Amino acid sequence: MEPSRRPSPLVNGLRSLRARAGAARELVSDRKLFRAWLKHRVVHRLRPPSHAAGLRLHIGCGKESLDGWCNIDLLPLPHVDLCLDVSRGLPFHGATHIFAEHFLEHLEVLDALAFLHGCHGSLAEGGWIRLSTPNLDWVWTHLYSADPMTGQSDRVDRRVDKAVHINRAFYGWQHRFIWNRELLSEALTAAGFDGVRECEYSKSELDDFRGIERHELYDDTPELPHVLIFEACKGPSRPEAYQQLFDMLHHEIERCRY
Ligand SMILES: C[S@@+](CC[C@H](N)C(=O)[O-])C[C@H]1O[C@@H](n2cnc3c(N)ncnc32)[C@H](O)[C@@H]1O
Repeated sequence: MEPSRRPSPLVNGLRSLRARAGAARELVSDRKLFRAWLKHRVVHRLRPPSHAAGLRLHIGCGKESLDGWCNIDLLPLPHVDLCLDVSRGLPFHGATHIFAEHFLEHLEVLDALAFLHGCHGSLAEGGWIRLSTPNLDWVWTHLYSADPMTGQSDRVDRRVDKAVHINRAFYGWQHRFIWNRELLSEALTAAGFDGVRECEYSKSELDDFRGIERHELYDDTPELPHVLIFEACKGPSRPEAYQQLFDMLHHEIERCRY
Protein backbone atom coordinates (compact mmCIF):
# COMPACT_ATOMS: atom_id res chain seq x y z
CA MET A 1 0.00 0.00 0.00
CA GLU A 2 1.45 3.35 -0.99
CA PRO A 3 1.05 6.34 1.34
CA SER A 4 -1.96 8.41 0.41
CA ARG A 5 -0.48 11.91 0.37
CA ARG A 6 2.84 11.79 -1.47
CA PRO A 7 4.36 15.13 -2.49
CA SER A 8 3.48 15.96 -6.10
CA PRO A 9 6.07 15.38 -8.87
CA LEU A 10 6.44 19.19 -9.12
CA VAL A 11 7.26 19.50 -5.41
CA ASN A 12 9.64 16.54 -5.71
CA GLY A 13 11.31 18.08 -8.75
CA LEU A 14 11.76 21.44 -6.98
CA ARG A 15 13.19 19.75 -3.90
CA SER A 16 15.58 17.74 -6.01
CA LEU A 17 16.71 20.91 -7.81
CA ARG A 18 17.23 22.65 -4.46
CA ALA A 19 19.28 19.71 -3.16
CA ARG A 20 21.39 19.64 -6.33
CA ALA A 21 21.93 23.42 -6.23
CA GLY A 22 23.10 23.23 -2.60
CA ALA A 23 25.41 20.32 -3.30
CA ALA A 24 26.78 22.04 -6.43
CA ARG A 25 27.52 25.19 -4.39
CA GLU A 26 29.55 23.06 -2.01
CA LEU A 27 31.40 21.51 -4.94
CA VAL A 28 32.41 24.77 -6.63
CA SER A 29 33.48 26.34 -3.35
CA ASP A 30 36.17 23.65 -2.96
CA ARG A 31 38.73 24.12 -5.75
CA LYS A 32 40.49 20.78 -5.33
CA LEU A 33 37.22 18.91 -5.31
CA PHE A 34 35.99 20.85 -8.32
CA ARG A 35 39.13 19.99 -10.35
CA ALA A 36 38.76 16.30 -9.43
CA TRP A 37 35.09 16.41 -10.40
CA LEU A 38 35.93 17.95 -13.77
CA LYS A 39 38.54 15.28 -14.41
CA HIS A 40 36.05 12.60 -13.47
CA ARG A 41 33.43 14.03 -15.84
CA VAL A 42 35.79 14.46 -18.76
CA VAL A 43 38.15 11.52 -18.42
CA HIS A 44 36.44 8.74 -16.53
CA ARG A 45 32.71 9.14 -17.05
CA LEU A 46 30.73 6.80 -14.82
CA ARG A 47 32.53 3.53 -14.19
CA PRO A 48 30.32 0.47 -13.79
CA PRO A 49 31.08 -1.02 -10.37
CA SER A 50 31.98 -4.66 -9.93
CA HIS A 51 29.34 -6.68 -8.11
CA ALA A 52 31.26 -9.94 -7.74
CA ALA A 53 30.35 -10.02 -4.04
CA GLY A 54 26.65 -9.29 -4.66
CA LEU A 55 25.16 -5.85 -5.11
CA ARG A 56 26.17 -3.61 -2.23
CA LEU A 57 24.91 -0.03 -2.30
CA HIS A 58 26.80 2.81 -0.66
CA ILE A 59 24.38 5.70 -0.66
CA GLY A 60 25.27 9.37 -0.24
CA CYS A 61 28.93 8.36 -0.47
CA GLY A 62 30.23 11.91 -1.03
CA LYS A 63 34.04 11.79 -1.18
CA GLU A 64 34.19 8.40 0.59
CA SER A 65 34.08 5.56 -1.92
CA LEU A 66 34.13 1.89 -0.92
CA ASP A 67 35.84 -0.69 -3.12
CA GLY A 68 33.48 -3.31 -4.50
CA TRP A 69 30.41 -1.26 -3.60
CA CYS A 70 28.18 0.77 -5.90
CA ASN A 71 29.02 4.28 -4.67
CA ILE A 72 26.00 6.50 -5.20
CA ASP A 73 25.61 10.24 -4.77
CA LEU A 74 23.56 13.12 -6.05
CA LEU A 75 26.74 14.68 -7.35
CA PRO A 76 29.21 13.23 -9.83
CA LEU A 77 32.07 13.52 -7.37
CA PRO A 78 35.30 11.65 -8.06
CA HIS A 79 34.79 7.89 -7.55
CA VAL A 80 31.00 8.10 -7.62
CA ASP A 81 29.77 5.12 -9.65
CA LEU A 82 26.21 6.27 -10.04
CA CYS A 83 24.72 9.77 -9.83
CA LEU A 84 21.25 9.49 -8.46
CA ASP A 85 18.81 11.55 -6.43
CA VAL A 86 17.67 8.75 -4.15
CA SER A 87 14.81 10.86 -2.78
CA ARG A 88 13.13 10.09 -6.12
CA GLY A 89 13.33 6.33 -5.60
CA LEU A 90 15.85 3.51 -5.72
CA PRO A 91 15.94 1.53 -8.98
CA PHE A 92 17.49 -1.64 -7.52
CA HIS A 93 16.47 -5.18 -6.67
CA GLY A 94 18.30 -7.98 -4.96
CA ALA A 95 20.99 -5.94 -3.18
CA THR A 96 22.66 -7.77 -0.32
CA HIS A 97 23.78 -4.73 1.70
CA ILE A 98 23.04 -1.02 1.90
CA PHE A 99 25.26 1.43 3.75
CA ALA A 100 24.56 5.15 4.20
CA GLU A 101 26.82 7.14 6.50
CA HIS A 102 25.87 10.67 7.51
CA PHE A 103 23.19 10.67 4.87
CA LEU A 104 19.68 10.27 6.32
CA GLU A 105 19.76 13.70 7.97
CA HIS A 106 20.02 15.26 4.49
CA LEU A 107 16.51 14.17 3.58
CA GLU A 108 13.22 15.75 4.61
CA VAL A 109 11.59 13.41 7.09
CA LEU A 110 8.96 12.00 4.70
CA ASP A 111 11.57 11.53 1.99
CA ALA A 112 13.72 9.75 4.57
CA LEU A 113 10.87 7.41 5.45
CA ALA A 114 10.23 6.74 1.75
CA PHE A 115 13.98 6.18 1.31
CA LEU A 116 13.97 3.49 4.02
CA HIS A 117 10.98 1.89 2.32
CA GLY A 118 12.91 2.04 -0.98
CA CYS A 119 15.92 0.40 0.68
CA HIS A 120 13.65 -2.41 1.86
CA GLY A 121 12.43 -2.87 -1.73
CA SER A 122 15.99 -2.84 -3.11
CA LEU A 123 17.28 -5.55 -0.80
CA ALA A 124 17.11 -9.27 -1.40
CA GLU A 125 15.52 -11.47 1.26
CA GLY A 126 17.88 -11.52 4.21
CA GLY A 127 19.62 -8.32 3.03
CA TRP A 128 20.96 -5.81 5.56
CA ILE A 129 21.06 -2.05 5.95
CA ARG A 130 23.48 -0.01 8.08
CA LEU A 131 22.92 3.70 8.68
CA SER A 132 24.66 6.38 10.65
CA THR A 133 23.18 9.75 11.43
CA PRO A 134 23.64 12.47 14.11
CA ASN A 135 22.03 11.71 17.45
CA LEU A 136 19.40 14.23 18.51
CA ASP A 137 19.99 13.39 22.19
CA TRP A 138 23.68 14.20 21.84
CA VAL A 139 22.91 17.42 19.99
CA TRP A 140 20.52 18.55 22.70
CA THR A 141 22.72 17.57 25.64
CA HIS A 142 25.98 18.89 24.28
CA LEU A 143 24.87 21.87 22.28
CA TYR A 144 22.01 23.32 24.23
CA SER A 145 20.98 22.09 27.67
CA ALA A 146 22.29 23.80 30.82
CA ASP A 147 25.76 22.80 31.99
CA PRO A 148 25.18 19.30 33.48
CA MET A 149 28.29 19.64 35.70
CA THR A 150 27.30 22.80 37.53
CA GLY A 151 23.57 22.88 36.85
CA GLN A 152 24.01 26.64 36.58
CA SER A 153 22.45 28.69 33.86
CA ASP A 154 24.86 29.99 31.24
CA ARG A 155 26.29 33.43 30.67
CA VAL A 156 24.64 35.45 27.91
CA ASP A 157 27.49 35.02 25.41
CA ARG A 158 27.39 31.26 25.95
CA ARG A 159 23.64 31.24 25.31
CA VAL A 160 24.25 33.11 22.06
CA ASP A 161 26.78 30.46 20.97
CA LYS A 162 24.41 27.68 21.93
CA ALA A 163 21.58 29.13 19.85
CA VAL A 164 23.88 29.20 16.84
CA HIS A 165 25.35 25.75 17.42
CA ILE A 166 22.10 23.90 17.91
CA ASN A 167 20.62 25.53 14.82
CA ARG A 168 23.73 24.58 12.88
CA ALA A 169 23.12 20.95 13.86
CA PHE A 170 19.61 21.18 12.43
CA TYR A 171 20.19 23.31 9.35
CA GLY A 172 23.94 23.40 8.71
CA TRP A 173 25.53 21.17 6.04
CA GLN A 174 22.09 21.04 4.40
CA HIS A 175 20.65 18.93 7.20
CA ARG A 176 16.90 18.52 7.09
CA PHE A 177 15.99 16.34 10.07
CA ILE A 178 17.81 15.04 13.14
CA TRP A 179 16.82 11.63 14.47
CA ASN A 180 16.79 10.04 17.89
CA ARG A 181 17.09 6.34 18.62
CA GLU A 182 13.39 5.76 19.12
CA LEU A 183 12.15 7.44 15.95
CA LEU A 184 14.87 5.89 13.79
CA SER A 185 14.06 2.48 15.16
CA GLU A 186 10.34 3.00 14.59
CA ALA A 187 10.93 4.21 11.02
CA LEU A 188 13.08 1.17 10.19
CA THR A 189 10.48 -1.20 11.61
CA ALA A 190 7.62 0.54 9.78
CA ALA A 191 9.64 0.35 6.55
CA GLY A 192 9.75 -3.44 6.95
CA PHE A 193 13.01 -4.10 8.77
CA ASP A 194 13.55 -6.62 11.55
CA GLY A 195 16.28 -7.11 14.14
CA VAL A 196 16.91 -3.37 14.43
CA ARG A 197 20.03 -2.95 16.56
CA GLU A 198 22.38 -0.20 17.54
CA CYS A 199 26.04 -0.77 16.75
CA GLU A 200 29.33 0.66 17.85
CA TYR A 201 31.56 2.55 15.45
CA SER A 202 33.27 0.14 13.08
CA LYS A 203 31.88 -2.95 14.82
CA SER A 204 29.46 -5.41 13.25
CA GLU A 205 28.58 -9.07 13.30
CA LEU A 206 28.52 -8.81 9.50
CA ASP A 207 31.83 -8.93 7.63
CA ASP A 208 30.66 -6.46 4.99
CA PHE A 209 29.93 -3.75 7.57
CA ARG A 210 32.90 -4.26 9.89
CA GLY A 211 35.33 -1.31 9.88
CA ILE A 212 33.21 0.55 7.35
CA GLU A 213 32.67 3.94 9.04
CA ARG A 214 34.78 6.89 7.97
CA HIS A 215 33.33 9.75 10.03
CA GLU A 216 35.31 11.46 12.78
CA LEU A 217 35.16 10.19 16.37
CA TYR A 218 34.36 12.42 19.31
CA ASP A 219 34.89 11.73 22.96
CA ASP A 220 31.57 9.88 23.07
CA THR A 221 30.07 7.52 25.60
CA PRO A 222 28.21 4.39 24.44
CA GLU A 223 25.04 5.73 26.12
CA LEU A 224 25.30 9.05 24.31
CA PRO A 225 27.17 8.71 21.01
CA HIS A 226 27.17 11.80 18.78
CA VAL A 227 26.20 9.59 15.87
CA LEU A 228 23.65 6.76 15.89
CA ILE A 229 24.71 3.66 13.99
CA PHE A 230 21.92 1.20 13.28
CA GLU A 231 21.71 -2.08 11.44
CA ALA A 232 18.57 -3.95 10.42
CA CYS A 233 17.59 -6.93 8.30
CA LYS A 234 14.93 -7.02 5.61
CA GLY A 235 11.72 -8.39 7.11
CA PRO A 236 8.11 -8.46 5.98
CA SER A 237 6.46 -5.32 4.56
CA ARG A 238 4.33 -3.51 7.15
CA PRO A 239 2.06 -1.26 5.10
CA GLU A 240 -0.19 -0.32 8.00
CA ALA A 241 2.63 0.68 10.33
CA TYR A 242 4.24 2.58 7.47
CA GLN A 243 1.06 4.44 6.64
CA GLN A 244 0.49 5.28 10.30
CA LEU A 245 3.97 6.73 10.74
CA PHE A 246 3.72 8.54 7.41
CA ASP A 247 0.40 10.11 8.43
CA MET A 248 1.74 11.17 11.83
CA LEU A 249 4.84 12.80 10.32
CA HIS A 250 2.80 14.38 7.57
CA HIS A 251 0.34 15.74 10.11
CA GLU A 252 3.00 17.03 12.49
CA ILE A 253 5.52 18.41 10.02
CA GLU A 254 4.61 18.54 6.35
CA ARG A 255 1.20 20.15 6.80
CA CYS A 256 2.97 23.15 8.41
CA ARG A 257 4.42 24.10 5.02
CA TYR A 258 2.85 27.01 3.22
C1 LIG B 1 27.43 14.68 4.67
S1 LIG B 1 27.68 13.97 3.12
C2 LIG B 1 28.22 12.36 3.62
C3 LIG B 1 29.23 11.82 2.68
C4 LIG B 1 29.88 10.50 3.16
N1 LIG B 1 28.90 9.45 3.33
C5 LIG B 1 30.65 10.74 4.44
O1 LIG B 1 30.27 10.15 5.46
O2 LIG B 1 31.61 11.52 4.39
C6 LIG B 1 26.06 13.65 2.45
C7 LIG B 1 26.11 13.23 0.99
O3 LIG B 1 24.79 12.89 0.58
C8 LIG B 1 24.61 13.35 -0.75
N2 LIG B 1 23.18 13.52 -0.97
C9 LIG B 1 22.37 14.45 -0.40
N3 LIG B 1 21.11 14.30 -0.84
C10 LIG B 1 21.13 13.26 -1.71
C11 LIG B 1 20.14 12.61 -2.50
N4 LIG B 1 18.88 13.05 -2.49
N5 LIG B 1 20.51 11.57 -3.29
C12 LIG B 1 21.79 11.13 -3.29
N6 LIG B 1 22.78 11.70 -2.57
C13 LIG B 1 22.46 12.76 -1.80
C14 LIG B 1 25.38 14.66 -0.81
O4 LIG B 1 25.70 15.02 -2.14
C15 LIG B 1 26.59 14.33 0.06
O5 LIG B 1 27.67 13.85 -0.71
